[in-house]
Amino acid sequence: MKLRRFATQELATVYVAAMVESLITRESHPVLGLATGATPVRLYDRLVEFHQQGLSFAHVTTINLDEYVGLPATHPQSYRRFMHEHLFDRIDIPLAQTYVPDGMAINIDDECERYDAVLDTYPIDLQILGIGRNGHIGFNEPDISLKTRTHVIDLTEDTIKANARFFPDVNRVPTRAITMGIQSILQAKAIILMAFGSDKADAVRRALSGEVSTEVPASFLQMHPNVTFVLDEEAAQQLQTGQLLQASEWSRPHPW
Ligand code: GLP
Repeated sequence: MKLRRFATQELATVYVAAMVESLITRESHPVLGLATGATPVRLYDRLVEFHQQGLSFAHVTTINLDEYVGLPATHPQSYRRFMHEHLFDRIDIPLAQTYVPDGMAINIDDECERYDAVLDTYPIDLQILGIGRNGHIGFNEPDISLKTRTHVIDLTEDTIKANARFFPDVNRVPTRAITMGIQSILQAKAIILMAFGSDKADAVRRALSGEVSTEVPASFLQMHPNVTFVLDEEAAQQLQTGQLLQASEWSRPHPW
């Protein structure tokens, strides 16, 4: 477990963008696991800037964590559309190399199986994650048990309320989503969780508490051999000194 604290979101984001650049310049067929939400928007802006300066994504495969059930790819709030707006349409990645679950699939179970097959075919080198205020990752919501593989989930009230900021009103937020499971996330060779702002501080503290609980899905990341939490000061504000030191192990190299 590594922890990097930065004075600002901007600095934190440049750090993560450099990690992504390092991966895609070293690997011949890098696979990036990508997230949506407000947190990675600046990261995607930085990657677009790197692309404008010559960084190619033509050999990269991307696999997104999740998608709302019932939103077509063209819907302004669909995660497929989000990825096009913030990244895919602004870089040279062939769209056939970008994977996002299909929230409109007629048979959702088949779609989950298809997505698991994609994950088996393209093992993720670096998974980018945000974190929900309730500790969710992807759309793996707190519960008495968690699913390992791709599945459909009923979103919690807290998540629906939190994500209402992207919709005209809370009643338009889909109540279900398809998400990669916890095991698939943990299978990534390296994971970077980005969290910014004080409303993430409690989730970050609980994720790093030293205990693993299905009530805090992000806490499972503590069991991964190569995970880095990249935080701004506000998101790190509830961490105790001991926790910070314990989490700040520098030794483990990245696998690429
Ligand atoms: C959504 C996504 C998550 C994301 C979370 C936090 O629920 N499914 O992948 O991490 O929101 O979003 P934000 O970065 O906007 O706070």
